[in-house]
Amino acid sequence: MYRKVAAALAVGLLAASMAACGDGGKGTDTPKDDGKITLGFSQVGAESGWRTANTKSIQESAAAAGYELKFSDAQGKQENQIKALRSFIAQKVDVIAFSPVVESGWDTVLKEAKDAGIPVILTDRAVDSADKTLYKTFIGSDFVKEGVVSGEWLVKQYEGKTDPVNIVELQGTTGSAPANDRKKGFADAIAKAPNLKIIASQSGDFTRAGGKQVMEAFLKAHKDIDVLFAHNDDMGLGALEAIEAAGKKPGTDITIITIDAVKDGMQALADGKFNFIAECSPLLGPQLMDLVKKVKNGEAVEPRIVTNETTFTQEQAKAALPDRKY
Ligand code: AHR
Repeated sequence: MYRKVAAALAVGLLAASMAACGDGGKGTDTPKDDGKITLGFSQVGAESGWRTANTKSIQESAAAAGYELKFSDAQGKQENQIKALRSFIAQKVDVIAFSPVVESGWDTVLKEAKDAGIPVILTDRAVDSADKTLYKTFIGSDFVKEGVVSGEWLVKQYEGKTDPVNIVELQGTTGSAPANDRKKGFADAIAKAPNLKIIASQSGDFTRAGGKQVMEAFLKAHKDIDVLFAHNDDMGLGALEAIEAAGKKPGTDITIITIDAVKDGMQALADGKFNFIAECSPLLGPQLMDLVKKVKNGEAVEPRIVTNETTFTQEQAKAALPDRKY
């Protein structure tokens, strides 16, 4: 009698555990469908003030939308991002979004996501994959335009002058979309004024420490720097320290142009230490969450969504600073 009851209980327990798997007992790890959207997000890292604000925007917006967010920090390494994407695929998340550290090398893992039926959204940075069906949409800034408006502003400052203007450039992370695009946009814009020349250009990896270190080397190698174009505020802020340590006045002895317009950058601009900033908004979270819902539901989305952005002079920074959110 006892044996019969025990056997019946064991069968019942087995059936219950198979039902909990939700996969008809095939032993796969299909999550239960509780109607909640699960988003896997792979972030570049925490290299800049911009990135910190971007992470906050994504985490807060996911919580506000009621999504389950699986967040992974790649610490600036593509291999970590590929691992994270594969882990999201294995966990059968509903949607994957990521901000690619660099532009190339994504086809294989994106194909794996596509084969698993998981839609992918590119956030902030692009990939150079020829197959555009590997992702649903790309939401983020127009980095080329940011370089162009920075270059155009500079050309205007030297209008009517023919003396040589020596520019040094602090590039973002080598191989990343913002570094490639901002470099190109700026170079194209200043090509209209042949006296404006980039005399040195090197990566500071989008960090303050990198910006400081490379600027120190620039200052040692070139006595006659007129302009610094930094691909983000953080590198510009690091460079400020190097310029001041070299006994020069940033914003006066060396004209400084940066990109992002985070609070610290805007403060430097308002204080007269920077001269011009092209904005790059990190507040992508709310729009990203809308897109996640749409692609999860199989709705059509625009293949490219460009963020609205502006530029700031010193006077404009003074006016905007009190309301700056990040
Ligand atoms: O991809 C956006 C860029 O990455 C930001 O301009 C920079 O600050 C960040 O690290």
